[in-house]
Parts: sequence; C-alpha cells; structure tokens
Amino acid sequence: MDTFLQEIPKAELHIHIEGSLEPEMMFTLAKRNGIELPYKSVQEVRDAYNFQNLQSFLDLYYAGMGVLQTQQDFYDLTWAYLQTAAAENVQHTEIFFDPQAHTSRGIEFEIVHAGIYQALQDAQEEFGISSYLILCFLRHLSAESAMATLEQALPYKDTIVAVGLDSSEMGNPPSKFKRVFDRAREAGFYTVAHAGEEGPPDYIWEAIKLLGVSRIDHGVRCIEDSQLVKYLIEQQIPLTVCPLSNIKLCVFDSMEKHNIKQLLHMGLCVTVNSDDPSYFGGYIAENLQQIQAALGLSQQDIYQMMKNSFQATFLSPEEKQAKITELDDFMAKAFVS
Ligand code: ADE
Ligand code: ZN
Repeated sequence: MDTFLQEIPKAELHIHIEGSLEPEMMFTLAKRNGIELPYKSVQEVRDAYNFQNLQSFLDLYYAGMGVLQTQQDFYDLTWAYLQTAAAENVQHTEIFFDPQAHTSRGIEFEIVHAGIYQALQDAQEEFGISSYLILCFLRHLSAESAMATLEQALPYKDTIVAVGLDSSEMGNPPSKFKRVFDRAREAGFYTVAHAGEEGPPDYIWEAIKLLGVSRIDHGVRCIEDSQLVKYLIEQQIPLTVCPLSNIKLCVFDSMEKHNIKQLLHMGLCVTVNSDDPSYFGGYIAENLQQIQAALGLSQQDIYQMMKNSFQATFLSPEEKQAKITELDDFMAKAFVS
C-alpha cells in the first residue's frame, strides 16, 4: 500500500507555496538575507508548530515568510516544493501564492511572481510537471486592498489561472469580496475560495453563489448542511481537502474522526492535498498514508480521489483525459503485479 500511495499519479490543487518553507530553508534564507530568527535551531522551529486553531498557525506562517526577500528566494522555495512533488509523482499542480503578504513588506509583486514562475517553467522542463498559479487574496485585509492586488496582477494574467481567498476565515465571509471576484471573472480568471474550514456552511454557499467558484478549498464543514451536501454532489463541485492540516489546526480531534471517507462515499468530488506541508507534517503522499491508515481506505477509494483531482484541475478536457488515462494505466499495472 505504501508504494502504491507513493507512486500513484497525483494532482495537487491546494498548496500554499509559502507553506512549503521548511525550517532548514528558513535558516538558509535568514542567513543569506542577514535576518535574525527568533529560533536557535531547526528543532526549535518544529517544536513551535503546535497550533490550537487557524489563527495560531497563520501568525507563525506570516512571520516565517519574512525570510523571503529576493527573486532567488522565491525561486528556491518553489523549486524545493517541485522536487518533492516530482518524487511523489505529482503530475500537475495548481499553486497558491499570497502576494499581499509580500508587497505589505515592501517586496514587489514582480519579484515574487518572477521567482515562482521561473521555477514552475524549469520544473516542466526537468520533471515534466505541469503547473498553474493561483493568486490568493488575504481575507483579513480589506476588499480595497484585494482590488488593488487584482489590478497589479492584470499584466500577468496569462500566467495566473485563477484567484482565491485565504487567511483568517471567521468574520471574513466570501461576500466581503464579491466585487473583486466579479472583476476577476470579467478579466478571465477562474475563481476558488477557502470556505468551510473553520467557517460555517453558509460561507460555502456564499463562495459558490456570490464568488462563482469552480472549487471549494477545504469545505469539510459542508457536512452540517444536508442541502449543501446534496448540491455539492449534484454539481460535483470539488473540495480540496487537506487532512493533516485539519488535524494540526484542530478542525477534527484525530485522523480517525476526519470525514473525508464519509464525504467520498457520499459521492462528493473529494481531492487530497497538503495545504502547508512544512507546517503540518507532510506532503501529499504523507496525507494519503495517514488517511489510509486511520480510515482504512481501499485502493479504489484512493484511485477515485486521484481521478477527482485530475477532473478538478483547470486543464483542458483533453489534457485531463490524458492524465486520467495515465492514472488508469498505472492502476492496470498495479493490479497485475
Ligand atoms: N493560508 C495558508 N494556509 C491556510 C489555510 N489552511 N487556511 C486559510 N488560509 C491559509
Ligand atoms: Zn489552504
């Protein structure tokens, strides 16, 4: 099973690139940029990753990314993620970045974008991984700030497939960003949003009805609203579920209590993702291993979630079908051997 989980072709649709900053790289970049960290060792950093809720994580997440200063830093960060992704047979990835978390520190949008984007292009060459970028607005900031960020992104439209919404969910409903998302869709961006991670099912409805999202990021609290569950099944609106994240941020008490298997078996389009792998204890294969062990998922369950992921990408129908054919070939071989 472990080899199967490691080797099965994957798509990752919910990864914050800043959340893949490993403590080792945090120290390397701090040294390179002459920044003093409030930690003495890598172990001390890892020990600090003990979260009670989303906000307690976000506080360290925004502090940690302070070491990212130059285009090369953003390149190195993204390249490191893509190397790990390649080793886990991630075939396609749609990566979130948080420009406001950098422009607010005086780092130009252009620097952030250029470093990340160059690494994506190099990984396509070197590993054959295809990828798209998704610009996330920080929902704890104002709608005006999000609109200004959207304007900044317009010249880069060809290299950014979608806009999303992340950061502190409670008290910052999707409705706050309706105008920005209207404008983004007019400009040709797809839309996604974090909803129903800590926030109520109403936020998922708002993301769908007001922001026109193609996917819901997390969405696990949909289970509290049977009409919503019915709608998500009928419309096959994908949920980008992040199991290790949900445990680390106390959305569920333990992996045994996670509802991903329940949602999958009810017929929702569930996918598996790593969110902020450096902070939550693992990349996509580790997420698969832990849910499989805790919930007793079958190879058929895993296959269905991987197929869902490819279906849920922003690739063209032909590209999706090519990826699913590769997945099917893998399954045929796995069952022969
Ligand atoms: N930013 C990075 N990870 C996040 C998460 N899990 N929820 C909301 N915002 C985030
Ligand atoms: Zn997230």
